[in-house]
Amino acid sequence: MSHLKIVRRFLSFYWKADTVYDIHSPFVFEFANAVLEDQRNFYAFEEIEFIRKQYLKDTRTIQVEDYGAGSLVDKRNERKISSIAKNALSSPYRAKLLFRLINLYKPENLIELGTSLGISALYQASANYNAQLITLEGSTAIANLARQSFQQYNNPVQIKLLQGQFKDTLPKALKEVPKLDYAFIDGNHRKQPTLDYFETCYQYAHEDSIFVFDDIHWSEEMEEAWDEICKDERVRLSIDLFYCGIIFFKKEFRVKEHYNIVAAKWKPWSMGFFGK
Ligand SMILES: C[S@@+](CC[C@H](N)C(=O)[O-])C[C@H]1O[C@@H](n2cnc3c(N)ncnc32)[C@H](O)[C@@H]1O
Repeated sequence: MSHLKIVRRFLSFYWKADTVYDIHSPFVFEFANAVLEDQRNFYAFEEIEFIRKQYLKDTRTIQVEDYGAGSLVDKRNERKISSIAKNALSSPYRAKLLFRLINLYKPENLIELGTSLGISALYQASANYNAQLITLEGSTAIANLARQSFQQYNNPVQIKLLQGQFKDTLPKALKEVPKLDYAFIDGNHRKQPTLDYFETCYQYAHEDSIFVFDDIHWSEEMEEAWDEICKDERVRLSIDLFYCGIIFFKKEFRVKEHYNIVAAKWKPWSMGFFGK
């Protein structure tokens, strides 16, 4: 999808988006308040961002096997570590959002598809010290760097990395968890694989599971996959934050709902300052 198309999609998303001040559902209000509006700096952030900064300055190149839909920016198999750190990782803003999501709902058995350098894994595993995260990465050289990130990190986190293609490692990872409380799907951004990961993960999910899909508006294929997932009757609540989508399966949500949400600072008039 061209950058112009992504901008157009964003404007259409933004136009329809609610902020915390527009939301009546207590569950979604709590979500928006805790996950989008909370500006606190948690203990883990500084140390993880220090690790990211080291990678951003690292000019070494590594050989990368690309098993996914690839990068919009960097299509070569030889990549600079700094370029991976700049282009492939969740930004601090998004990674902190994942931290707050896990900190709010406290899922314990987490799976991440797409480790890259391990930055999002560190955020997610630090958000709940009872959490056990299994993170999956295809590229050997990238997986080795992620292992170094985990070693460098000083806080006690439980992270296991499985290296190999998702089609092989996801079933293995799922067999290792008693139940799947949380999945972050952040690799191989194509329609059918995304739908397949959803189905495979769903087999181990329960009513309180949370699935997060990254880059849902990154391509036509990802938008189609996200639309299909939102329409699925098993999904009782879907929340589009534009850069990622989050789904919930709670049966107590008798009426299936979908929200587009932005932080209130992006729609300041929603706070009522300008007589909404
Ligand atoms: C967007 S990056 C993950 C970023 C990371 N979650 C973060 O936010 O810090 C996606 C990663 O998934 C890996 N990947 C993509 N498709 C894969 C596949 N089919 N099997 C295994 N790994 C794959 C890529 O090598 C890449 O490192």
